[in-house]
Amino acid sequence: MCGIVGYVGKEECVDILVNALKRLEYRGYDSAGIAVFEKDRLKTVKAKGKISEGLEHLLENVGKPHATSGIGHTRWATHGEPSDVNSHPIGNGRVSIVHNGIIENYRELKDFLTAHGYGFESETDTEAAAKLLDYYYNGDPIEAISRTMKDLEGSYAMEIIFRDRKNCVYAIRKESPLIVGKGDGEGYIASDITAILEHTREYYLLEQNEIAIVSESGIEFVDDHGFPVEKELKTADWDISAAQKGGYEHFMLKEIHEQPQAVRNTVSPRIKDGLPCFDECGLTDDKLAAYDRIFIIGCGSAMHAGMVGKYVIEELARKPVIVDIASEFRYRTPLITDKDLAVIISQSGETADTKAALALANQIGADTLAIVNVVGSSIAREAKMVMYTNAGPEISVCSTKAYVVQTAFMYLLAIKIALANKTIDNQRGMALTKALSDIPEKIGQCIENCREECQYAASRLQNADSLLYIGRGLDYALSMEGSLKLKEISYIHSESYAAGELKHGTISLVETDMPVIAVATQSALLEKTVSNVKEVKSRGAMVIAVARKSTVIDPTCVDYRINLPETEDLFMPLITVVALQMIAYYTAVLKGCDVDMPRNLAKSVTVE
Ligand code: AGP
Ligand code: GLU
Repeated sequence: MCGIVGYVGKEECVDILVNALKRLEYRGYDSAGIAVFEKDRLKTVKAKGKISEGLEHLLENVGKPHATSGIGHTRWATHGEPSDVNSHPIGNGRVSIVHNGIIENYRELKDFLTAHGYGFESETDTEAAAKLLDYYYNGDPIEAISRTMKDLEGSYAMEIIFRDRKNCVYAIRKESPLIVGKGDGEGYIASDITAILEHTREYYLLEQNEIAIVSESGIEFVDDHGFPVEKELKTADWDISAAQKGGYEHFMLKEIHEQPQAVRNTVSPRIKDGLPCFDECGLTDDKLAAYDRIFIIGCGSAMHAGMVGKYVIEELARKPVIVDIASEFRYRTPLITDKDLAVIISQSGETADTKAALALANQIGADTLAIVNVVGSSIAREAKMVMYTNAGPEISVCSTKAYVVQTAFMYLLAIKIALANKTIDNQRGMALTKALSDIPEKIGQCIENCREECQYAASRLQNADSLLYIGRGLDYALSMEGSLKLKEISYIHSESYAAGELKHGTISLVETDMPVIAVATQSALLEKTVSNVKEVKSRGAMVIAVARKSTVIDPTCVDYRINLPETEDLFMPLITVVALQMIAYYTAVLKGCDVDMPRNLAKSVTVE
């Protein structure tokens, strides 16, 4: 969680830091702050709340300090409530730090430091690290940082400044990501590249046990013994427009509209002679034929993409697929072996539980394939094979395009495994690949043709306290994602249920006017789903059916319907989800919720 930025250069840095923080606000927004070198002191300005509500007001009131280097932070609290005093930067006037992550042994460190005369103001774990740095600092920053790194347990990305090392910012990381950007006579530090894209696209990836030193004389890296480290300068291929709203009211809406192109970017480069081709990562047909089972592991929407993957892979390739929530997988001695493939799905590539699940699968000896959006992220680097989803930056906390490209990838994988296992022939493989290639256009049609229907549905949902999504087969797998979207951004409680399971308990919740969203896109299951719809309707539910335009459903059991574009049953989730995203989006807008930054959440969950 949390966003970190730093700047050393010739310009006034306060606006540079605040603007960069705004780009990272999606990572956490409990509070924000900066510390800069103002004359001979470290000046800290920090406040509870979003940047525009807290930090910016405060800067207007107290006046912007004049400085050309400093550090900044936007927080997602783990230890201590969101408050001014718990905000970062944290320090004592001699040393100041910003921190992303959790210092697990902060209690022992605090006891130790208290015994050495230190007092503590905040409730954060971070303060223990700040005071420890101060304790070790005798004029040699690298020594103090190295000794602190040895003592810290847990995860961190951290920037450190010392009052007597003017215009010099030090950075370290363990688990949490950090990059160092190279400008023209300037150095930047950031949690991710989107924060600094308007200044530079050139950056270094900071590794564990390295210390970055960004000063007026340039950017250097040393190891934890102080020896220089040579690093490769990388160039980001995302441009700044990808990280801006581009005229849309919210990033979520922009990202919904980017889905056709995102799916094209994921699918097209992997098609050769009309069939999926995975040469880029060495996932050969021989390997795919030999695996006993496929495990698909992720959190939240990424795991939901895996749920669709299970249905599609099992249907086409007749291979057993186990979908696991990463936080469950990592703690339950899973029955994965060196004959299995673990597919690890993550947009950010930094999700703590997903990373740990990957490490476990690697350690047991399974083959591991990461399906990741952020290039060079930890999960991308730690998996044995990696394929990128090429969706561009996803800023809205609520995932849309990342889910869709992850799901599109599941189809590519399913077709590929089916061909390798000879459960389908080339002709069917080509027909399926063609159907997948046509999906971007259909997503575009869904956005255009279903928008008003979704807006109307949202107007019927906005006052609900609770609702159900029901469906069978792929519609059920997909509904999990629809339900998550609605909960996440509109704060309306909802559950996704396998329609056939309703009468085993949940139907008791249905009462007059309770909304039920019935997803009915699977022809073979239509009759069964419709009979479940009749069951809820006859108990007073207000039913919104989400079905293909051509599907005939008895109008007496449906109050309202969303009419989707047509494609093969198997591919319907890729289109249907777009309608469910729009229903959630417009409901949240009608309710006046903060769509891109829903309460209590952060974009990448880099702590357990
Ligand atoms: C989706 O809307 C969520 N914000 C969340 O469930 C997300 O998908 C999950 O935290 C996984 O993130 P990742 O893909 O970056 O690993
Ligand atoms: N654990 C620290 C805190 O609670 C850092 C949280 C963050 O990553 O924003 O302040």
